Amino acid sequence: MFVRLLGTAAGGGFPQWNCNCALCREVRSGRSGTSPRSQSSATVSADGKSWFLLNASPDIRHQIEAFPKLLSPRDHVRGTSIEAVLLTNADLDHVLGIFILREGGVLPLHAPPGVRKALDEGLRISEVLKAYGGVSWTEPPSTLKALLKSNGSESGLLYEAFEVPGKLPRYAGSKFEKGSAVGYRLVDPRTKGRLVFLPDTAGLIGPVSEKLKDCDALLLDGTFWDEDEMKKTGTGTLTASQMAHMPLGGPQGSLEILRNLPIKRKIYLHINNTNPILNESSPQHRQVKEAGVEVGTDGMEFEI
Ligand code: MLT
Ligand code: MN
Ligand code: ZN
Repeated sequence: MFVRLLGTAAGGGFPQWNCNCALCREVRSGRSGTSPRSQSSATVSADGKSWFLLNASPDIRHQIEAFPKLLSPRDHVRGTSIEAVLLTNADLDHVLGIFILREGGVLPLHAPPGVRKALDEGLRISEVLKAYGGVSWTEPPSTLKALLKSNGSESGLLYEAFEVPGKLPRYAGSKFEKGSAVGYRLVDPRTKGRLVFLPDTAGLIGPVSEKLKDCDALLLDGTFWDEDEMKKTGTGTLTASQMAHMPLGGPQGSLEILRNLPIKRKIYLHINNTNPILNESSPQHRQVKEAGVEVGTDGMEFEI
């Protein structure tokens, strides 16, 4: 399975358009030690030809241009090698790219019922896009099944969705609600490579922790280092928990769990512009690396 991180920042990107925090200033300065990041998304493929997007960020247009394998096949005037979008939740940073992809044909969307409902009631996505290429909906399976290409043939990947603790997006009421977020596990039966994609989660206990053990590569929510990061940096008032993100730092943080996970690649993505791990010379960045965990960067690629 080929995996590429298209974007590794949380909502707003890095730097964020209206932000003048220390990290956004630093990355704008162009000095080494921080790199700009677009909003969180990844893409996977079994054969290097047919690709599946894991969420669709508002930065998708530029993410496609930066990765020509997602472009239209050379022998077609128009077209795409994007077969479908697998959605983990209905947050704007994960779905606005769907509108950007409106010029293609019917866009297959895979999403659990709660996410589809938020998108249809909150953003009228099916209704609005009907006037363009349209969308089709598939509810992802809870046990491994073939992930199909847009023409119905097998892609060479298997996938399943599993529920994670999360909340509805702000435009849909912000409530913590069952079914508002999922993670995906993708398996390539040829290489036996297993990927878990989990860019938003409020916790890593119970069934979620079982999925973490059962993979070779994990892409995990790296939004905040600290519970109070937004307050401390003067960028907001909500805590990590109130936003349904498990912080990385401290004894209860996700880094302590990742440290002991016996899997090959452990990578943080969906990193907020306030998170000190974005600065390569910060103690927090060093702690992540010393724990055998990677700080995701845009364009990072690997095969499993
Ligand atoms: C999140 O990840 O918490 C959301 O994308 C924040 C937002 O609503 O912008
Ligand atoms: Mn987000
Ligand atoms: Zn900032």
